[in-house]
Amino acid sequence: NIFPTILSGGSGTRLWPLSRKHYPKQFLRLTSSYTMLQETALRLTGFNKPIAVCNESHRFILAEQLHEIGQNPTSIILEPVARNTAPAIALSAFKALEQTRDAILVVLAADHVIEDKDAFQNSVERAAEYAEQGKIVTFGIVPNAPETGFGYIQAEKGDSSALKIKRFVEKPNKSKAQEYLDSGDFFWNSGMFVMKASIYLEELKKFNSKMYDSALKAYSNATSDLDFVRVAKQDFELCPDDSIDYAVMEHTQLGVVLPISVGWNDVGSFSSLWEVLPKDENNNVKLGDIQSIDSNNCLVQSENQFVATIGVDDLIVIGTKDSILVANKDRVQDVKQVVEHLKGKN
Ligand code: GDD
Ligand code: MG
Repeated sequence: NIFPTILSGGSGTRLWPLSRKHYPKQFLRLTSSYTMLQETALRLTGFNKPIAVCNESHRFILAEQLHEIGQNPTSIILEPVARNTAPAIALSAFKALEQTRDAILVVLAADHVIEDKDAFQNSVERAAEYAEQGKIVTFGIVPNAPETGFGYIQAEKGDSSALKIKRFVEKPNKSKAQEYLDSGDFFWNSGMFVMKASIYLEELKKFNSKMYDSALKAYSNATSDLDFVRVAKQDFELCPDDSIDYAVMEHTQLGVVLPISVGWNDVGSFSSLWEVLPKDENNNVKLGDIQSIDSNNCLVQSENQFVATIGVDDLIVIGTKDSILVANKDRVQDVKQVVEHLKGKN
């Protein structure tokens, strides 16, 4: 009764110019010969075939990439507009409940790296036991920096492997993040969730009934063709936009955190991409025809031109067919602003 659910509707704007509107990061081969989506689908074995949720415009890319690795899904749910993760998970919960009343969702983001697959598979099986008892389980990562792009979880002390969540704070500001890090008392939220589909929907209804109602309506009025479930546009457009973190996790009393140590990383920005990729003796990641002289800790990637760097440190240089990005490694969160600017120009 376990359904891996792959959320594949993000836009990955912080990885521009690699990640583009029509071809966002989850569909790119960023960390291996598989795309991020394929890596995600290959992460879990022995359960039901996955449910994938993505934007309508990416349906063929997604279907083809899953087909390529022989992971034909239970269903591909298509969103006409993006409403963030809380409604997307509700749609997959409705689908899973059609298969079996006691369905358990294992919600996976399509932008993570997990090095130790066996340990992760093991943790998912343990999490499913807590989900059976009606808990909403998330995986906790021991933080090593005051990252502001993550959720922070404070857990109650206990001796079981999953700890009751005392406080869940989504994306705190820098000073709060620093405070949480210093306290030694918080985990990062890995952004993956294991829970009964029915429990998730009950909690969503409790904390955001408008979202629940419009997601249900949009799903009830969906049309099916082939493996695709096309959610009704006029209903889904009325759905409030929010993530599971804000909409449910900050409020629920059912949350537990299962600490994991599996080589997890969210490939959200160029600095995290630099972290997970192999480096030369000066800690440079070089992809393409690159020469670096007296340069350290850089990520330089070029699709079709030769690139040389001289005497620079902590630099990101990304060259594609039509664009070049040059950024300081500690400003990579601001790549978003470039995308905003380009949107305004079009
Ligand atoms: N189907 C669908 N629809 N998927 C979506 C949508 C949507 O509207 N929006 C985002 N996603 C997908 C993304 O593609 C990604 O796989 C996943 O949902 C998570 O979304 P992100 O936008 O990457 O979230 P985040 O990284 O800012 O924050 C989440 O993950 C962190 C860890 O990686 C939160 O759960 C944080 O608390 C967590 O720390
Ligand atoms: Mg993410």
